[in-house]
Amino acid sequence: MPESQHATASSTAANPASPTETVVVSGIQPSGTLHLGNYFGAIRQHIALHRRHEAYFFIVNYHALTSLQDADALARYTLDVATTYLALGFDPDEAHLFIQSDVPEVTELAWIFYNLTPVSHLEKGVSYKDKVAQGLSPNAGLLNYPVLQAADILIYGGTLVPVGADQKQHIEMTRDTAGRFNHTYCPDDDPLFPLPEPHILDDVSVIPGVDGRKMSKSYGNTIGLFDEGKMLKKKVMGIVTDSTPLDAPKDPEQDNVFALIKLFASEEKQAEIAAAYRAGGYGYGHAKKELLGMIDAYFAEARERRHKLEERPDYVRDVLREGAKAARAQAEPMMDRVRAATGLISARR
Ligand code: TYM
Repeated sequence: MPESQHATASSTAANPASPTETVVVSGIQPSGTLHLGNYFGAIRQHIALHRRHEAYFFIVNYHALTSLQDADALARYTLDVATTYLALGFDPDEAHLFIQSDVPEVTELAWIFYNLTPVSHLEKGVSYKDKVAQGLSPNAGLLNYPVLQAADILIYGGTLVPVGADQKQHIEMTRDTAGRFNHTYCPDDDPLFPLPEPHILDDVSVIPGVDGRKMSKSYGNTIGLFDEGKMLKKKVMGIVTDSTPLDAPKDPEQDNVFALIKLFASEEKQAEIAAAYRAGGYGYGHAKKELLGMIDAYFAEARERRHKLEERPDYVRDVLREGAKAARAQAEPMMDRVRAATGLISARR
């Protein structure tokens, strides 16, 4: 991880369960093609952390159902996310990558958490409020989305959650949920769940899209990780800029193209381009061409690996199967403890 990037709170000192070990967990929705916002906001941190700690990364297909109700697309995007992680350097011998719904215990835990969650808190959820503000009628899945996310994190005893800044509220809600469960069902000196910390890199916390708003599948303003050729060119050349004439000096810090260049360029190169902006005579078209070359080069190797992996769908499925096995080995005993704590007895055992 470059030195220039600073993560916000990542200490586990405040955890009542005082885990001795960092457990990294994070999820990504298979609701579309992954984009630069996903990569720089989250996936790059996942790849960087996955060799250093025990780590669980899941493809949250239950969450994706809140917005995607096309069975073929959901199945395709699910495998696509896995292929992308492997292409970007995720090593399945070092950490676990799996499909959320392969650990169905997570929905059981979510149900238990629903009963500890005030509806008024869920109504303050950012995605839920956004939909309401747009005059749309959100489904119950979207309202409850943060509770399922809390279950995702807590079922593996997660302590550190690498995400983009848009997920901060969800991690706070997860901490609240863990606290409520511990308070309701556990002795003060023996809480079941640690309170996880978000791991958000300050300088890449919100990646802008081609229109300057947050890059997001739902805004249709994304640049895909593996976009190439004409498609990539069209998107980069279409990035919205102001109308300062070519000759005039420009402020790089106010420009969407430069915001993206910063993700790829060394500090030296950034300084060189910023100076050209300020000097004038350097147009947005020049900057876009630089950016185009940078994106193309940065993902060239991963693109190659991805093409090869696309010919090995069985391997990708094997990775996911093994990942799910390891995840269930954590989730099942955790659920036994949760059921025991909550009084959910079974007549089957
Ligand atoms: P999703 O799929 O919407 O986003 C996946 C990750 O990408 C980050 N991200 C961004 N970061 C910076 N700038 C952007 N423009 C940008 N767009 C997306 C998101 O912050 C996220 O880290 N709710 C989660 C999925 C989830 C999850 C979990 C995450 C479900 N369960 C448990 C962590 C732990 C989400 O936003 O997915």
